[in-house]
Amino acid sequence: MTSKQIREEFLHFFASKQHEIVASAPMVVKNDPTLMFINAGMNQFKDIFLGNRKPTSLRITDSQKCLRVSGKHNDLEEVGRDTYHHTMFEMLGNWSFGDYFKTEAIDFAWEFLHYKMGISEDRMYATVFGGDAKENLERDNEAAECWKKYLPDYRILNGSKKDNFWEMGDQGPCGPCSEIHVDLRDDDERSKIPGHEMVNKDHPQVIEIWNLVFIQFNRKADGNLESLPQKHVDTGMGFERLCMVLQGKKSNYDTDVFMPLIQAVSDLSGVKYGNNQQSDIAMRVIADHLRAISFSIADGQLPSNVKAGYVIRRILRRAVRYGYTFLNFREPFITKLVPVLVQQMGEQYKELSAQKELIMKVINEEESAFLRTLANGISRLDQMMDSAKKSGKKEISGSGAFELFDTYGFPFDLTELILGENNFTIDKQQFEEEMQQQKERSRNAAAKDTGDWIEVHQEEHPTVFVGYDDTECDVKILRYRKVAEKNKTFYQLVLDKTPFYAESGGQLGDSGVLESAIGERIAIFNTKKENTLIVHLTENLPENPSATFHAKINEEKRQATANNHSATHLLHLALRTILGTHAEQKGSMVSPERLRFDFSHFQKLNDEELKQVEKLVNRLIRKNIQLDEHRNLPIKEAEKMGAMALFGEKYGDLVRVVRYGDSIEFCGGTHVHATGEIGQFHILTESAIAAGVRRIEAVTAENAENFFNEKLALLYTVTEQFKGTKDVLHSVQKLNEENEQLKKEVATFKKTQLVEVKKSWKEKIQNINGINSLVLITDLDAGSVKELAFQLKTEVENLFMMIGSQEASKATITILISDNLVKEKGLHAGNLVREWSKAINGGGGGQTFFATAGGKNPEGLTNVLQTAQDYVATL
Ligand code: SER
Repeated sequence: MTSKQIREEFLHFFASKQHEIVASAPMVVKNDPTLMFINAGMNQFKDIFLGNRKPTSLRITDSQKCLRVSGKHNDLEEVGRDTYHHTMFEMLGNWSFGDYFKTEAIDFAWEFLHYKMGISEDRMYATVFGGDAKENLERDNEAAECWKKYLPDYRILNGSKKDNFWEMGDQGPCGPCSEIHVDLRDDDERSKIPGHEMVNKDHPQVIEIWNLVFIQFNRKADGNLESLPQKHVDTGMGFERLCMVLQGKKSNYDTDVFMPLIQAVSDLSGVKYGNNQQSDIAMRVIADHLRAISFSIADGQLPSNVKAGYVIRRILRRAVRYGYTFLNFREPFITKLVPVLVQQMGEQYKELSAQKELIMKVINEEESAFLRTLANGISRLDQMMDSAKKSGKKEISGSGAFELFDTYGFPFDLTELILGENNFTIDKQQFEEEMQQQKERSRNAAAKDTGDWIEVHQEEHPTVFVGYDDTECDVKILRYRKVAEKNKTFYQLVLDKTPFYAESGGQLGDSGVLESAIGERIAIFNTKKENTLIVHLTENLPENPSATFHAKINEEKRQATANNHSATHLLHLALRTILGTHAEQKGSMVSPERLRFDFSHFQKLNDEELKQVEKLVNRLIRKNIQLDEHRNLPIKEAEKMGAMALFGEKYGDLVRVVRYGDSIEFCGGTHVHATGEIGQFHILTESAIAAGVRRIEAVTAENAENFFNEKLALLYTVTEQFKGTKDVLHSVQKLNEENEQLKKEVATFKKTQLVEVKKSWKEKIQNINGINSLVLITDLDAGSVKELAFQLKTEVENLFMMIGSQEASKATITILISDNLVKEKGLHAGNLVREWSKAINGGGGGQTFFATAGGKNPEGLTNVLQTAQDYVATL
């Protein structure tokens, strides 16, 4: 079976068991503060387990794109070194939400693997949770009993809490799990060591393929477990591992999921796969990371310096580094592999094929930049080795290696490798200490303590959002909890209904107040989303949380935000009209003050294009197009209407569509009733944020008005300065020309003046003991003094000159001494100037024959004059 057939078999098997097939959620998580990337199939259903959302079906199945590179589930370091871990992988899953439990989950799994896929029963092992005294939990006998129907006792193994109790994070739904392991070793090997001794021992051919999790607890903030009223099933099977088993391979990378990618890396590098351990690891790393990066970009996450973007950047750099070190790549190469990946997966995952060009451009730019950094890092390392050698050492300090890691992205093993080639060693312990310190610094910065929810009122349904129609309403607090972050402590409130819009889809959250009947006012400073939960943030809790409150948003801010949000839709349409339909939204930020809109386009917009875009948006505003809003529209109908969806957004079966004439978008934001409310639209800047992605920042309504008024006020002030002129631009140009002309004249004048001054200075030279001494104070500028000093040096022998000069409140001392005096008498202008400049409250230095110093006390110059004269007399 091909991998494509295997995926389909799985989904159809569960569909035949009344499971609804759903699409994979985007891999980049938007509204969950505890998670950057989807790390398990169950993430998109977390809200259902927590009781915050009702499922659309009680049984669901899917294939979910997952990325395990940060947080509790992080496999990054294993990837490539072994043959069965991945950063990005597909997780096949089936779910029961309060429907079937352990027996059916195990029956289904057995039926699928054994009867449908034909995996022989003597190669399969099941683990069950063996109990944990500390948690006061018993062995999962229920699961073990179910397995007894299919497997002899010796192939049902007890597992530890680490392996057989699944938790998504530090808090939340969790429970015992039962894993299915498969032994793929040859008969010969199997007869030597029985499989049950190899389970969970990191053998590449005795591996876990499926994890059946029985969600029956909730882990609270204090670490205790509480039983859930409803029990759920969450299963996850590694798709790539299943392909390995069914295609009779010994490594995930030998399946048709990876082989075309490995082959392409091999063709590009000219290195064969399977000949050398290090280059094999490198090829696996590259094939794996290419998928992770490409899918992240397709889901809207560009590499950057912060958060999820930084994780992606680091994965890409890891791949580049492996290619650089072990496959000798010196030019961008990952970008060239994208077409192979698209050919392979673009059909199943349309987001990938639709954005091929963008993905290639972004990766190419990232790679080129990092290859330059690598080259710089290597020359920095050369410097380190040079200076170590000079002090007779053959060791680089650990902090040197840390600098390379921190600034140039060199992991320790790369530094060690290059040093090894040069017969250098490294202080590893010091490096590790520095790494530890950095980890602690970032841990402290991110520390956050979230308390348990305190129930106030029974919840009958999730929060009802009334904010599309109303700006105020009566509400009850359903629950609240305390959150302590590094610099502040605040509370999160969940209400029964709310007019507050929670930050999402680029639009910032509402602020406002909750007022009680007795006049207590609780300020809501922001509103955010945690998955589908709307949480209101406040610094103070009301005295009586169970009272009824009147919730009211800040309307002025909401209107300004709506203006900007609707303007982004018009801008999107305008860009697609003027530039072409390749211009697609890649991100946005909408606040009351301004809007930011990122879109795909491959070159800078010229002034003419910007003007056209701005004009079109303003024309659409003046047309005063009425809002045509469709709530709860079946997604198919929305697509038929031609509504634009965004890659990387998760849409349910029912969607909201916001339409202004030809602008039709999937959108959950708050908008103006008619475009005329926006008033006007003005673009402030246009820039690049990545290869192939441009950013426009703009203002609307009053903010645009204020912008123009400020500019006009400036123009009026300037015009004032040119009283009597009609054409202020002409006057400014004339002024500039005159200024240029005057500068030229002054320069010529100065030259003639300098000739005169030089003549008079020459006349002032005194011969003191054979030294031609010129010591005086002048009001010439320091630049001219320097010029004259150098002229005199070539014209007068045995010269010692000290000129004090003054410009405004600044004093300068300039000393020049003929070379022969410097040599014969051991004079040093730099030392003299340093000493003498103390009198003018300044400092300076220079060479032996010429030095200057500036100071803030011009009065001190007469002192310096005297000192200099006395000094010459002693020579
Ligand atoms: N949540 C479990 C896992 O990720 C099963 O899907 O392994």
